[in-house]
Amino acid sequence: MSLLEKNRADYKRYKEDVKKEGKPFFPYALFHDSVMQLVVVVVIIALSVIWKFTSENEGGGTNPGLLGPLYTEKADPGTVSFVPRPDWYFYFLFYLLRIFKWPDSVILGTVGIPTLLIVMAIALPFVDRRRERHPLRRPVAMIAAVLVIVAMGTLTWKGAAAKEVVASELSGLVPEWAEKQGFVGNAEAEAGAKLFSQSGCLTCHIYTGAGGANLGAPELTAEGAKGRGVDWQIKHLECPSCVNAGSPMPAYKTLGADNLKKLAIFLEASKGPK
Ligand code: HEC
Repeated sequence: MSLLEKNRADYKRYKEDVKKEGKPFFPYALFHDSVMQLVVVVVIIALSVIWKFTSENEGGGTNPGLLGPLYTEKADPGTVSFVPRPDWYFYFLFYLLRIFKWPDSVILGTVGIPTLLIVMAIALPFVDRRRERHPLRRPVAMIAAVLVIVAMGTLTWKGAAAKEVVASELSGLVPEWAEKQGFVGNAEAEAGAKLFSQSGCLTCHIYTGAGGANLGAPELTAEGAKGRGVDWQIKHLECPSCVNAGSPMPAYKTLGADNLKKLAIFLEASKGPK
């Protein structure tokens, strides 16, 4: 029997089965769906009632209840110490972003691989046309499924265990920087380095391997070797876009003249590790 004939025979048998044993959509399937939807809605209402009545933080109460606190502090868009973390079920994606680093492999990780997987998922029904559904007789599919689960589990675990670089921990790097860059004992440069580690500069800039490259910010490890001079550095920190038109770097004038001078001395003392 050719594949086409076989398909036609199967289709005929399916139609006959439907006639003999099938139930009409209305009312059977509709009733079934309605009941399930009602259950979902009731569960959501029950959860919100439990949340509302077991937690309290009005009037000074801090009991988080069974399902978390009522309300938390308002978001502060000006924060530099907040460490963004996704909900746990996104940890696997979150960890992938640590593996695929900007700019080298992010396109591969965010566009290339997902596109490949989608194409494979679309092609699958055309490639695998067997009717076999028993798990033990579908080794390729089963191994692929197990690998996906193991991979997602591992990535979720790694994402949960991943240590964030917190501003307060970055300042622990200052002695190492002073050592590497040779400004040990230069009190102003050391104070500047501490400010640098705590002012969010490392969100955009890389400095001797710490921090992240964002918005096209240059690495600052050897900033002092450019010969800009302290005055230029202060002017740039006060208003980056006045010095470099279109610069997306925020202005740090609010840090005060004293702090800007320390930062500038630190930057100028950073000639790159010997
Ligand atoms: C939001 C991202 C961002 C943050 C945060 C940031 N920068 Fe920048 N920075 C940039 C970008 C983009 C440039 C390149 C354009 C320019 O020079 O202004 C830059 C350039 C620089 C330069 C190089 C100037 C040159 O051309 O030699 C220095 C030095 C610098 N930043 C220091 C700092 C310091 C110090 C801080 C923290 C107080 C900081 N940056 C915070 C994005 C940032």
